[in-house]
Amino acid sequence: MDKIASLCKRRGIIFPGSDIYGGLANTWDYGPLGAELKRNVKNLWWTTFVHRRRDVVGLEASILMHPRVWEASGHVQNFNDPLVDCKTCKARFRADHLIEERLGLAVEGKTPAQMSEIIVEAKLKCPNCGNATLTEARQFNMMFSTTIGPVSETGTQVYLRPETAQAMFVQYKNVVATGRVKVPFGIAQIGKAFRNEITPGNFIFRQLEFEQMEIEYFVKPDEAAGAFEEWLSAMRGWLRTIGVRDDHIRVREHEQEELSHYSSRTVDFEYQFPGSMGWKELYGLANRTDFDLSRHQEVSGEDLQYFDQAENRKYIPYVIEPTFGVDRTCLVLLIDAYDEEETIDVNGKPDTRVVLRLHPRIAPYKAAVLPLMKKPELAEPARRLFDELVSATGALIEYDETGNIGKRYRRQDEIGTPFCFTFDFDSLDDHAVTVRHRDDMSQERLPIAEVPAWLSERIR
Ligand code: GAP
Repeated sequence: MDKIASLCKRRGIIFPGSDIYGGLANTWDYGPLGAELKRNVKNLWWTTFVHRRRDVVGLEASILMHPRVWEASGHVQNFNDPLVDCKTCKARFRADHLIEERLGLAVEGKTPAQMSEIIVEAKLKCPNCGNATLTEARQFNMMFSTTIGPVSETGTQVYLRPETAQAMFVQYKNVVATGRVKVPFGIAQIGKAFRNEITPGNFIFRQLEFEQMEIEYFVKPDEAAGAFEEWLSAMRGWLRTIGVRDDHIRVREHEQEELSHYSSRTVDFEYQFPGSMGWKELYGLANRTDFDLSRHQEVSGEDLQYFDQAENRKYIPYVIEPTFGVDRTCLVLLIDAYDEEETIDVNGKPDTRVVLRLHPRIAPYKAAVLPLMKKPELAEPARRLFDELVSATGALIEYDETGNIGKRYRRQDEIGTPFCFTFDFDSLDDHAVTVRHRDDMSQERLPIAEVPAWLSERIR
């Protein structure tokens, strides 16, 4: 993970948030290349699950919602982490994480009092200062709140949404009324979510502010189990589309006591992270039953029943929710793609080649056009090829004419550019360029006229 974080900083993929002020823990900024990577992930997800499906429509809702939304959803009451404080050094920890890490015990479903008992019995000490001065565990709500209005005492307290999902329930009635949708159908959204996370983050794995891509899929109650299986396989299909390694993924069913307050069945797609992190949640799939719509109906007083014309009856649909973290997607793509290869440099000396084997669909730059030398007679036709590639593919293409060609290839390897087109002096006569492949460094000659179609086919 350290190597990946350092490559990300060095190459402008991901920077620590507020870096020049010493950083702000658990916040990260995507640099020029990371912004492209993230955008590619989000665009591909939207194309896959909204544009290519006739049963899913999109939504883009406000981050701030009426505070009663979070009472109805159960987040005010239930969205808590059990925390302990150290009386000596004042550090704060997740009680469940502490017990899991120190004692290897799973404590899902245990109350704070039960966790406190385990901590006392095992004489667990503060991981920060080593003193046995941890407080009792107590619940701590993870929602960030702020105030609307100029004066905090009289203003309205609102929350920064901890999941994008609730907007899909709150706008469900408007979508049904205007969207020409019929059950079964889904509403999809990509957007920011905020959680006051205490446990330090493992690079971008756990952040205070992150992005989710979520679908709330509304179904007839007796069809929920079948829809769950269909989404399970659609989520597997997505992982293949973006090129995540199959053997790094496992699907884990939640135990009864581990289920969130709204779920009757949840599975996590877990990814095998490097080092001590091990298997951790990448995505989730939940059967939220009619919990959310029923609660919003109760609290808002609006009738949220669906009238099923075919069956001539009203019911509250069940909801199957596939949820995907954008940042965790970027993280696993980077981890899967990162490779170090022993090779020899241009002077025949042993060398290590760092290469990001990103799928061409996801890679920030799809190709680089590299004139062999910085000479006008090469630059001018190379620029022409660059312009043609940009307009033929609509993708981000790099143009780089500075420095030695071997070093330029290595830079492209490190940022995951799958193909380089090198324009040399022979190109002026044979109207062909050298295509250099990132993954095996092989080279072939290709007529310039064929390059735009050749590239378009490989990045689709
Ligand atoms: N609407 C359901 C929901 O929010 P969740 O499992 O709490 O479920 C969904 O979150 C996804 O959001 C996770 O699978 C993960 O990918 C991502 N996620 C959750 N908390 C995160 C955090 N603090 N930092 C980065 N990503 C996070």
